[in-house]
Amino acid sequence: MDSYTLAAAERLTTRPARDYRHFSVQPVTPVIGAELTGLDLSRPLDDEQLAEVKDAFLTHHVLVFRDQHLSPDDHKRFAGYFGQLRRSQRVAGDDRDPEVLDIKADGSSSFVDGNGWHTDGTADAEPSLGSMLYITRPPAIGSGGDTMWANMHFAYEMLSPTMQAFLDGLTAVHDGLIPWQGYQPPLEYTIPKSEHPVVVRHPETGRKLLFVNPGFTSHIVQLSPDESRGLLDMLFTMVATRPVLSCRVRWTPNTLVFWDNRCTQHHAIWDYYPHERYGQRVSINGTRPTA
Ligand code: SIN
Repeated sequence: MDSYTLAAAERLTTRPARDYRHFSVQPVTPVIGAELTGLDLSRPLDDEQLAEVKDAFLTHHVLVFRDQHLSPDDHKRFAGYFGQLRRSQRVAGDDRDPEVLDIKADGSSSFVDGNGWHTDGTADAEPSLGSMLYITRPPAIGSGGDTMWANMHFAYEMLSPTMQAFLDGLTAVHDGLIPWQGYQPPLEYTIPKSEHPVVVRHPETGRKLLFVNPGFTSHIVQLSPDESRGLLDMLFTMVATRPVLSCRVRWTPNTLVFWDNRCTQHHAIWDYYPHERYGQRVSINGTRPTA
């Protein structure tokens, strides 16, 4: 690790651990992710439980709840504690619940949602606050299909102060067409495109973070195309090649993971073809990112 990364890791990992009354917490890594044991999400949570979950969420960014037996309404109720639910666009005649997205891959899949580093919905003017993925059937071979999450506060903090200062004043375009490369989106879909600061502050903690991702960010507005490509590639490579800033979760049947889209990227690993993996995702509306 270089000295900037070490200093950032030291700041992150010397936070005092907190005890909770309603569940126990086992961090996945010192910088991102925690398994919470002791809550049954099929039942409504009371205010105290919810306040503790919110605290753990802001501390660890990715919360893992195992052995949950949830109906779609339970899943939506838990997500609804954190904000309004996002509605997916649907083509005419598709009467599935727009608030619940199937995440499914099997032997007939030619692509898999989220198989690359990205943050959900950043092409929207008000990107998602967070997502909750409930995997009921991980790959039957017993391994594969893990998901990785990266801490984008840490990604910003591991940069040199000179690079941080340079990025601080920039904005980038996030283009909803990027995930469709090679495919034709349904004609009735509205494809979102938005400009956001490259460095934003988390709306609840005020901490700075790097807010660009290869899944949606097309270019940095204030730079030439070559400069923009070079800089974004450097930042994307840093996230992809520094395992110290990410955690990896292995799904067991009936696991729900709740992650903060405002300060993380994630990558669903498609290493189980032709096996099946199935779950449902509910996402929560967020607010416009600000520098
Ligand atoms: C997603 O990108 O939201 C899907 C994540 C996953 O399937 O693990």
